[in-house]
Amino acid sequence: MLIKKAPLAGLTENDVTPHHLYLNRRKIMAAGGALAVTGLAGACSQQDAAAQSPSVRPTDGALDFATTDYRVSDGDLTPYDAVTGYNNFYEFGVGKSDPARHAHNMTTDPWSVEVTGHAERTGTFSIDDVIDFNALEERIYRLRCVEAWSMVIPWIGVPLSSVLERFRPTSDARYVAFETYLNRDEMRGTRFPVLDWPYKEGLRMDEAMNPLTLMAVGLYGEVLPNQNGAPMRLVVPWKYGFKSIKSIVKINFVSEQPTTSWEESAPREYGFYSNVNPERAHPRWSQSSERIIGGGPFARRDTEMFNGYGDQVASLYAGMDLIENY
Ligand code: MTE
Repeated sequence: MLIKKAPLAGLTENDVTPHHLYLNRRKIMAAGGALAVTGLAGACSQQDAAAQSPSVRPTDGALDFATTDYRVSDGDLTPYDAVTGYNNFYEFGVGKSDPARHAHNMTTDPWSVEVTGHAERTGTFSIDDVIDFNALEERIYRLRCVEAWSMVIPWIGVPLSSVLERFRPTSDARYVAFETYLNRDEMRGTRFPVLDWPYKEGLRMDEAMNPLTLMAVGLYGEVLPNQNGAPMRLVVPWKYGFKSIKSIVKINFVSEQPTTSWEESAPREYGFYSNVNPERAHPRWSQSSERIIGGGPFARRDTEMFNGYGDQVASLYAGMDLIENY
């Protein structure tokens, strides 16, 4: 896959499945975009910028973001209704429509994140201390689920590296572990032992710091709907979707490879790395192609190594056997 660098290269308004708020927002940004870009171009560091103009987190509605010339996936955008109606968020049930039906029960405001482990700054931080809402950017990434389907989504967020750097991880931080919010009253799926709750994920530090890795707070120009992982979730586009943990409340800098929920529940099926790899079949199904969600009943595509993002990430795994380290 070609990663094109021109703004929204390869996508025309005709390719985009209309979502009225998204398109309205894009019109507004065309007029106000200069403001967002000036904010990003300043000489001061991101932290200084945040200190000078404290960000205000919107809890619903539209987000201000810069349309970057960053990596644009090929393929049509997945319709908004599919992005927000066909989800995996097992805390709300294992059915694809359960999250859209039940996730509105989750409290996302106020939101705080506990930071622990090998870092100079640890403690409990409000979401405004974790994410610079003045530095949001849009990135169109394909997310490929381990269940052999994919979606192309216009995410809004900040590089995960900009989040992690705020806490000044030390050289002992070789991995970073994340946990999802857990509230059994609000998350009906957690009353069943489908996974060992809370949902846990982890990345090697160099994967976490790779510029492709996004901490998303929105999609389609709006604040993330709860079912997509409000108020903050990872998007790691070269890995199977389950690595993109939702509704994050804990960040732990660790020296050993952390245990993750799916590895814990079925180690033969789900490894720590979980890089998209058409050569490495899941024990119960092939990973060589995928269904295009929202593309009609027969829409499929061949799955690409690293989900097509190999130019940016293959070097992270130089010398590693990716069949063994699945
Ligand atoms: N995060 C949590 N906390 N719980 C989950 O069940 N499912 C994962 C991932 N993050 C999951 C999660 C899986 S399997 C996928 S494919 C993606 O979320 C789906 O993200 P989406 O629903 O926004 O498309």
